[in-house]
Amino acid sequence: MERHRILSPSMLSADFGNLARDTRMVDRSAAQWVHIDVMDGVFVPNISFGFPVLKAIRQNTDKFLDVHLMIVDPMKYTERFAQAGADLVTIHYEAVDTPRESLQQIRGYGIKSGISIKPATPVSVVDGLLEYTDVVLIMSVEPGFGGQGYIEASTARIRELRAMIDRAGTGTLIEVDGGINRTNAGEVFGAGADILVAGNAVFRAPDPEAEIVEILNA
Ligand code: DX5
Ligand code: ZN
Repeated sequence: MERHRILSPSMLSADFGNLARDTRMVDRSAAQWVHIDVMDGVFVPNISFGFPVLKAIRQNTDKFLDVHLMIVDPMKYTERFAQAGADLVTIHYEAVDTPRESLQQIRGYGIKSGISIKPATPVSVVDGLLEYTDVVLIMSVEPGFGGQGYIEASTARIRELRAMIDRAGTGTLIEVDGGINRTNAGEVFGAGADILVAGNAVFRAPDPEAEIVEILNA
């Protein structure tokens, strides 16, 4: 059963010379969330941006800010991301030693918690975490860069997670991130995803606002 159809455009693919303009485009678009990719050059082989950029985005939109931390030792920084305006902070399962406590700590800031798994991490690792997390983020590319191709094996992983969540009855949302476009969005929503992230497909489109509608209706 399909319960949500949320699009979270990834600001990693925005034009940083025109960040306010691109943020306002997403703000007036049909997209419900805004995806913020934070990379430290250690957890992933790329560096993106941190608090000042998040604050600048927050100043230009009231939409739900979905912050995806691809950093080592994320719990050193989660409270500051909450203070900078995040509505959801997602940490990587592979980056924390005590995921349950970390997720509870994030909820303690009065925001939503999320846990992400890389393509090679078994979906079963989140089974015991569902009641502590609002979102499970399945990476459908290796984290680090926008513009990569969707890993086809992700669709079976989404179905497996959908069945697990439905069995548990926790209502946890499934977010899918990497290589999403108007061609595969229907398949990914159909497999049980609630939220899709799209970077290049939105910001490289001739008309990004119209593309957002195309992906949402795929
Ligand atoms: C990758 C990031 C993604 C990325 C998605 O590490 O987590 O959010 O920006 O970009 P596309 O949609 O271009 O694959
Ligand atoms: Zn992301």
